[in-house]
Amino acid sequence: MAGKYRVLVVGLGKRGMHHAATFHANPRFEVAGICDIDQARLEAAAPKLSSPLAGADAAALAQTVKPDVFCFCTLPGLRLQMIKIGISSGARLIAFEKPIALSSAEAIEIKRALDAAGVKAVVSHQHRYGVHYQKVREIIASGALGRIHTVYGTGTGWMLHLMSHLLDYLRWFNDGAEAEWVMAQAVGRGKLADLHASPDYIAGFIQFANGVRGIVECGAGAPDVPEVSYWWRKCRIGALGTDGFAEVLTGGGWRAVTKTGASSGPGSMNYDLDMPPYVQDMAEWLDDDRRVHPCNFQSAYKGHQIMMALCRSVVQGGQVALPLATGADELALLQAHLPETKVLASTAENAKEYQS
Ligand SMILES: NC(=O)c1ccc[n+]([C@@H]2O[C@H](COP(=O)([O-])OP(=O)(O)OC[C@H]3O[C@@H](n4cnc5c(N)ncnc54)[C@H](O)[C@@H]3O)[C@@H](O)[C@H]2O)c1
Repeated sequence: MAGKYRVLVVGLGKRGMHHAATFHANPRFEVAGICDIDQARLEAAAPKLSSPLAGADAAALAQTVKPDVFCFCTLPGLRLQMIKIGISSGARLIAFEKPIALSSAEAIEIKRALDAAGVKAVVSHQHRYGVHYQKVREIIASGALGRIHTVYGTGTGWMLHLMSHLLDYLRWFNDGAEAEWVMAQAVGRGKLADLHASPDYIAGFIQFANGVRGIVECGAGAPDVPEVSYWWRKCRIGALGTDGFAEVLTGGGWRAVTKTGASSGPGSMNYDLDMPPYVQDMAEWLDDDRRVHPCNFQSAYKGHQIMMALCRSVVQGGQVALPLATGADELALLQAHLPETKVLASTAENAKEYQS
């Protein structure tokens, strides 16, 4: 059996601990270093991970540990800087959290840096490992829906939290077809002040090169998913075809209607179930260049371009062509241009979440 890949995990909050614990439990990996600027978090994490090298300075620790995998799970404000630290540490793979960047300008710089260094990168869109997500993908791929004409994703949480996920999965349901243009509207400034800065509600259309229409919406105006009680999991992602539809509810299983009738099954987003295969696929890709990780950066980058193009459409109006030729700071554009108009929520629960 091949040896163990050494991992440095930076940022030991909720997601950092999910990653660190999963690497630690996988025999193909060794957690060789951990980093957080919060000393209490470092001390709490160390004994759970066989007490690896620990420190608060990611750049210094990365130079000491020289990891094979540089994993960082910091909040969205810290991305390009960490990518640069990971590349200069000599890591062969960088694993990090969505969203990949706060702007198209930053994402383009990240892509250039990774491409130039030839470093693999993986972005945590791990929901797709859920049995219900897999089942919907399987039904679509089987041809049971006939010709797919529409893919869609809705979520009541706000854009920088959720849209990255929705776009990744609806692109997957559409075989990764390229997006040609988007058009969107947005309203509500309350969540622009959040660390995951977003309009309170954004909705848009995507034209894919294979003729399929994409529809995506996030936030206060997104529809309820009454089958799901946990608010953050009120996401519905699916595909419509000439012979039927199939969709996944993040917290509520899957269902489909095809020529042969209606069917449904269980499944709910679960970090304990989704993280182990997500991490195992990193080992597979490190072992063999041909076994590209399903959550590879190049795919996440395309989803991010769509999200940033939707924001540009909100600000400038009309259709925005893809790929984006030059970078911009889309959140700053939204800050400058979104009117004070208050968002109209689609449910009482949404109204409670989007009060300001
Ligand atoms: N994939 C998913 O399903 C999923 C779910 C939740 C959150 N997320 C994403 O994960 C990311 C992290 O979210 P979280 O909830 O774990 O955040 P968190 O606040 O719990 O953790 C972030 C950690 O990073 C540390 N940190 C900040 N700056 C640092 C630095 N310079 N060096 C080292 N450590 C530093 C903080 O002290 C904190 O411990 C976000 O981008 C979020 O969108 C993804």
